[in-house]
Order: sequence, then structure tokens, then C-alpha cells
Amino acid sequence: MSKKICPAVVVVVMFVLLLAMSGFAQEPAAEKSKQGSEAEIISLPAPQYDGWISVEKAISLRRSVREYVDSPLSISEISQILWAAQGFTRERKDPPRMWNPKYEWQGGLRTAPSAGALYPMEIYLLAGNVEGLTKGVYKFIPKNHSLKKVMNVDKRTDLCNAALKQASVEKAAAVIVMAGVYERTSFKYGERAERYVHIEVGSIAENVYLQGMTLGIGTVIIGAFNDKDVKSVLQLPEDEHPLAIMPLGKMPKAAG
Ligand SMILES: Cc1cc2nc3c(=O)[nH]c(=O)nc-3n(C[C@H](O)[C@H](O)[C@H](O)COP(=O)(O)O)c2cc1C
Repeated sequence: MSKKICPAVVVVVMFVLLLAMSGFAQEPAAEKSKQGSEAEIISLPAPQYDGWISVEKAISLRRSVREYVDSPLSISEISQILWAAQGFTRERKDPPRMWNPKYEWQGGLRTAPSAGALYPMEIYLLAGNVEGLTKGVYKFIPKNHSLKKVMNVDKRTDLCNAALKQASVEKAAAVIVMAGVYERTSFKYGERAERYVHIEVGSIAENVYLQGMTLGIGTVIIGAFNDKDVKSVLQLPEDEHPLAIMPLGKMPKAAG
């Protein structure tokens, strides 16, 4: 005697199958960037304002370094490098006269020159092997020398892929990404702003190179990458445009 299958059972089985095919086959939800007030803030150790090596020596030894020793960087070293990039060197309470009110004035003059003191650069740090920092993506906040954690995942491999698979990006203990906000500079300088923002990347990068030299940390300024991919990997806000990548890692003895 043949058994009849109840239509309700068929519907339930099909529903479960459909769920399995759609839901479980999906990629895990992508990590969302936290740029707002819900983000974790990490205070950085105070930077040093003096060092053991002359500026002439650091300039003469500077080289682009693309291979690193597989050892961690300390949070103090990261603090020092970020200060050299965009840290404060003098308090200035009021913004310049031509400040775009859409943005927050952070309250100081910085280590690298900036057209009109408008400071269009945002500095991101991808931490992979840093003592005192969990893996993830951070934004440097100059006004209180701190890091805001914007992503909880290690994005070095994705960034490496976006940078035409340049291995230095994946091998580095940490990676800096500079993103320019043209609107901060164009509010005063109009079309000239693009040139000014690009000049500023160079100044900041040289500070990172030279500060790295004093700490035995190697870096290279990387300009070859896919803009859209970098923006997507870091989930940058619409008005932030990636302009340079700088991997950071302990230098092999022979380099530099
Ligand atoms: C605008 C710019 C873009 C660069 N892009 C890359 C890059 O994508 N990858 C890389 O390995 N080096 C890059 N470099 C580093 C140069 O290759 C390096 O500065 C050059 O070979 C001279 O070597 P030195 O920096 O050791 O003096 C770039 C340099 C500049 C100034």
C-alpha cells in the first residue's frame, strides 16, 4: 500500500531547503565601519620630542624598505610615527578664517605643513602585529593623540590585494593609509586644492620615513593601488580619498 505525503510536510521541507540554499550559502555579514561616537577610543602614549639621531643622518640613511623582520611594533613606536605624520606641535584654539564649517577644527598646528592650515589628511592605521593594539583598522585623532577603532578585522590582506598585490602591505606589522578630504582645502582654494592636498601627502610621508629611520622601522610610500578597492576595503566615508599607503615594519639589519 503506497503512503500519501501530506502537502503541509512538502511545504515545510521545501521551505527548509530554500532557507539552507539562500541563508547558509551567504557570505558572513561584512564588518561595518564604526566612524561615529560608538567607536572605541585608545589613548596613545605621549610622543618624544627629541631623539638620538640627527636629521642629516636620518635623511642620508632614508631608503624605501619593502621587507620587514617578523616582529611586533610597540604602541609607543606607532604613537611616535603617527605624531610625526599629523601630530600637534602647537595649540591653536580657533580655526583659520576660511575653515569649512562642515568639519570639526581639531585645535592645533601639526608636524607637517598644510595649505592654509586646513589639514585635509585623515590617517588610518591597520594594526596587524602591534603590542598593545588589537588587530583592526584605526583612525588617528590628532586633537587628543588617540586612535579611534573603526573596524575589528585585520584588513592587511585585502589592502594588499587592492594595492596590486604588493607584498610589503601584507607583510608589514602595521600599515598607514592617508586619505585626503579635498573639500576642506577647496573651501578656501577652489581648484588649486587638489594640487595642495597632493603636495601635503609628500610632506607627511617624508616625516613618516624619517621618524621610522630613528626607530629602525622601515616603510615605503605606495602610490600604485586601485582607489575604489582601497576605499571599499576601509569603508572610507564618501569625501575621503585614499592617496598613499605606507607599510611599517622592523627593518632587517642590512636595510636603511
Ligand atoms: C609618488 C610615489 C609613488 C610610489 N609608489 C610606489 C609603489 O607603489 N610601490 C613601491 O614599492 N614603491 C613606490 N614608491 C617608492 C619608490 O619606488 C622609491 O622612492 C624609489 O625607488 C627610490 O628609492 P628610495 O625611496 O629608497 O630612495 C613610490 C614613490 C613615490 C614618490
